[in-house]
Amino acid sequence: MDLAVDVENVVKIYEGKTKALDGVNLQVESGKVFALLGPNGSGKTTLIRILTTQFKPNSGRALVMGHDVTTESEKVRRLVGYVPQEMSVWTDITGYENLLIYAKIYGVPSETRKKLILEAIDSIGLSDVGNTLVKSYSGGMIRRLEIACALLVRPKILFLDEPTIGLDPVARKVVWEKLTSFKKEFGTTVFFNTHYMDEADLYSDQIGIISRGKIIKTGTPEELKRSVGGDVITFEIEGDTVDDHVFDIIRRLELVREVTIHNSELIVVTDDSETAMPLVVRLLEGEGVTVEKVSMNKPNLDDVFLKYAGTRLESGGSIKDVRQTRGRIRRG
Ligand SMILES: Nc1ncnc2c1ncn2[C@@H]1O[C@H](COP(=O)(O)OP(=O)(O)O)[C@@H](O)[C@H]1O
Ligand SMILES: [Mg+2]
Repeated sequence: MDLAVDVENVVKIYEGKTKALDGVNLQVESGKVFALLGPNGSGKTTLIRILTTQFKPNSGRALVMGHDVTTESEKVRRLVGYVPQEMSVWTDITGYENLLIYAKIYGVPSETRKKLILEAIDSIGLSDVGNTLVKSYSGGMIRRLEIACALLVRPKILFLDEPTIGLDPVARKVVWEKLTSFKKEFGTTVFFNTHYMDEADLYSDQIGIISRGKIIKTGTPEELKRSVGGDVITFEIEGDTVDDHVFDIIRRLELVREVTIHNSELIVVTDDSETAMPLVVRLLEGEGVTVEKVSMNKPNLDDVFLKYAGTRLESGGSIKDVRQTRGRIRRG
C-alpha cells in the first residue's frame, strides 16, 4: 500500500500542559480523500499542523509521502498544499492578484506564471471574477480561491482544515465538486478536518475518528456505519434518565444489540426494529417511564461516534457527560 500519511504514536503537548495529541496512530492511502472527523478541541488542527511541518511533535513519528516531518521538513513542504481554517487570501486585491502573490512565494517561474494562474482560476470556477476584488466574493468563492492558491504548485497532498465551515450547503457542494475533480485529474491525496459528519460521510473515501487526541476508529463511511449494525431507535423519555434496573431489562432483551442512554434519549441498536420498538415502549411504560417520542434511523456517523467515543459528536458533551455515558455503554 502506498501511504500518503503514516503516523505512529504522535504526542503533542502545548506549553507543557495541554495534551492535544495523545498517541495518534494513522495511515492514509495515497490518492484517497481522507476525513479526520471529531468534535471541537479533539486535536484535528494540531495534527494537520504537525503534518504540514508547522509544529514538531513532542514524541512519535510522522511521515508525509514517505518523508519525516521533523527531519525532512523541507522535502515535505515541497509536496504539500495547505488551506488553513482562517482566511488566507487578501480581500483588498483581486483573485488574480492573490494567485500571483502565491505563485511568486512558491517560486513559480515568471514564464509559466500567467498560464498556471489562469488554469487555476478556471479549474476552480472563478474565471468570471478573476479581476474582481475579493471583498465582493461570497464565502464559498473565497474558499475556492484559497484552494486554487494551494493547488497552484500541484501538491501531492492537499491539507484542508475545516474547508467548508460556515458555508451553506450549495456552496459546500461546489467546493467539493472542484476538489473531487482536481483529485481525479491529478491524483492528489486530500486530507481534511471536519466536525460535520455529513461532510465526512458524503465526500471521503476513508474516515479517521478522533476523540480527545486519539484516533479511535478508521474505515470507509460504509464500514463504520455497518459496524454499528442494524437500525438505531431513539426513545425520547420524560425526565433526565432511566434507572439502572430499567436499563438492565432492556439490555437483556434478545433483540437488542446495544443500548446507550444519553441525557433523556435511550438509544437502542437492533436488527429487528419492527418488533423491538413496541416491545421497548411497553416495557418502559410498564416501569412507569413515559416515552415522549420515538424515531428510527439507519446508523449515521454520529451513531458511530457515540459507539466508539461514548458521546455525541455534534453536541460536544462535557467530560462528566462523557464518563456517565461511557460507563453505561454495554453490549446486548
Ligand atoms: N497553540 C495552542 N496552545 C495551547 N493549547 C492549544 C493550542 N492550540 C490548541 N490547543 C489545545 O489543544 C487541544 C486541541 O486543539 P485543536 O487541535 O485546535 O482541536 P480541533 O482542531 O479538533 O478543534 C484543545 O484543548 C486546544 O485548546
Ligand atoms: Mg480545528
